[in-house]
Amino acid sequence: MGAAGQRRGLCLCVILVCLEQVAAQIKYSIAEEVKVGTVVGNVARDLGLDVGSLAERRFRIVSGSEGAQFEVNANNGVLFVRKSVDREELCEGVSPCLVRLKLVAENPMEIHHVGVEILDINDNSPTFQEVEKIFEISESTPIGKHFQLPIAHDPDGVVNTVRAYKLNTNEYFNLQIREIGDDKIPFLVIQKSLDREKHAEHRLVLTAFDGGNPPRSGSLNVTVIVLDANDNHPTFKQELHSITLSENVKLGTSVIKVEATDPDEGLNGEVEYYFGGELDSEIYEMFSLDKNTGEIRVKGQIDFEKVDVYKLDVHATDKGHPPTTTDCRVIIKIVDENDNQPEIDVTSLSKTVAEDSKPGTVVSLISVTDKDVGLNGKVICSLSQNVPFELKPSFQDNMYSLVLKDRLDRELVSDYDITITATDCGQPPLSTFQILHVDVSDVNDNIPTFSHDPIQLYLPENNVPGNSIFSVTAFDKDLNENAALTYHIKRGQGSQVDMSTFLSINPENGDISALKSFDFETLKSFQFQVSATDGGSPPLSGNVTVKVFILDQNDNAPVILYPLSSNGSARGARRFPAMPKRETR
Ligand SMILES: *[C@@H]1O[C@H](CO)[C@@H](O)[C@H](O)[C@H]1NC(C)=O
Ligand SMILES: *[C@@H]1O[C@H](CO)[C@@H](O)[C@H](O)[C@H]1NC(C)=O
Ligand SMILES: *[C@@H]1O[C@H](CO)[C@@H](O)[C@H](O)[C@H]1NC(C)=O
Repeated sequence: MGAAGQRRGLCLCVILVCLEQVAAQIKYSIAEEVKVGTVVGNVARDLGLDVGSLAERRFRIVSGSEGAQFEVNANNGVLFVRKSVDREELCEGVSPCLVRLKLVAENPMEIHHVGVEILDINDNSPTFQEVEKIFEISESTPIGKHFQLPIAHDPDGVVNTVRAYKLNTNEYFNLQIREIGDDKIPFLVIQKSLDREKHAEHRLVLTAFDGGNPPRSGSLNVTVIVLDANDNHPTFKQELHSITLSENVKLGTSVIKVEATDPDEGLNGEVEYYFGGELDSEIYEMFSLDKNTGEIRVKGQIDFEKVDVYKLDVHATDKGHPPTTTDCRVIIKIVDENDNQPEIDVTSLSKTVAEDSKPGTVVSLISVTDKDVGLNGKVICSLSQNVPFELKPSFQDNMYSLVLKDRLDRELVSDYDITITATDCGQPPLSTFQILHVDVSDVNDNIPTFSHDPIQLYLPENNVPGNSIFSVTAFDKDLNENAALTYHIKRGQGSQVDMSTFLSINPENGDISALKSFDFETLKSFQFQVSATDGGSPPLSGNVTVKVFILDQNDNAPVILYPLSSNGSARGARRFPAMPKRETR
């Protein structure tokens, strides 16, 4: 390459010396990093020097450190590489990279300027200053948002420096390059919505390529940490729980534990539980809900007979801002326990039963109920023994009629206490009883009776007319009107005169008065009947025969009808009638 040098005069030399800073006489170019000993060119020949005298004239390079990489062979004038040449070390940022060499030969003194251009080779890769780049990006960041990435450096020359960037293929991010002057600045662009719950972290690799052939590259690990947004609501593992619970369970018994999960992070994923606000206030009294664990416990007295099913709405809410919620439903069916004894309800048709009622007469209607269900409801009814009644099931469930089984006799038993017992079939069985009092009402079925019949009465003659001489009393087992007696004197029997004209009777108490004074000498005895009649309807009567014997008194002066014998016996001289033997009981 270099132009052939001409031997020049001193003055030219002076001119050359003056120009040495400006231009070289010859210019070579070699690539950097060539091997030590590589020939750059034959300087002597190119400068037109006599090769044979070079050694003698001490032909050499005199430039300072700049020329340290090169050496000239004084025997043949060849310029060669003495030390490996690194273009980037020699002229960082300067292009083209020209090394100026000053060569001298003595006798006569000659100075020559030779330029060696160090040509760039692609011996450097792009590099990033950072070891790693970390972004923290919220998952709610919109698509299209840009984030500036670090730029890579490559000290190689224009062609061999950083020319392109690439991002590893991934669905969430792509790369955009902005050219600002000569610089290419890479940007990370969100191209798909981030979802922390799917990918909490993205590991990307940014690669910078230079323009060499083949190109060299350098990489940077780019990590995107996705920050949580409250974009998930809690979800229950089960939306409907249907469970059973025995009534009368102890307070504090655990009923169920509902569980909701929220994949969000931190407070956004912390779940609390509450009862739905639309619930019956009673539910708050019956159940408690642990807001942290979701456990529902019994708080009140569970009574199947009051409420047999509870429907609870449970909200799960996270602690995000704003929070998100979700619901589930818990249906608690209460299971009956045999905790209620049967109840007996007696509908009496009448409190009294007539004693002449026929067997089969319905006395009462009895309904038996039990608040419990199932076998706990099922009730069996029984009656006390030894009563003339029986229970007959009715067409209706749990209805019985109390029916007369035998004939009644009020005069034997005037009232009954009937014990009705109802027993359910629960375990253990519960029973209850009720006593039904039934009075037997009277019927006029008894005749008035006198304690003696006939009655014999001894009445001294000469009684005072109008005085009470005797009293009769009858008895009637019946009651009240049916036993209310009135007395009457009946007409005498046979040919005898009607004694009712001689006697009167108090119809209420049976006191008999004589209306005349009897005379033994005229009438020694007579009989009559007294009847006692009750107030029944129809009335019944009983009779008694009263036999009256008049007793003689000494009311007559002796009358001599014929001479008396010594021993005094005479006709009609008997002073007393023969006394009939008196009946005794
Ligand atoms: C870059 O990431 C890869 C893969 O995770 C890893 O092997 C390498 O060590 C990382 N480089 C640096 C500089 O951290
Ligand atoms: C009482 O006498 C009346 C009439 O004489 C008679 O009808 C009735 O049967 C008698 N009663 C009794 C119990 O003898
Ligand atoms: C009474 O006297 C008469 C006549 O003298 C006599 O027949 C009778 O036996 C006597 N009676 C008595 C009881 O003594």
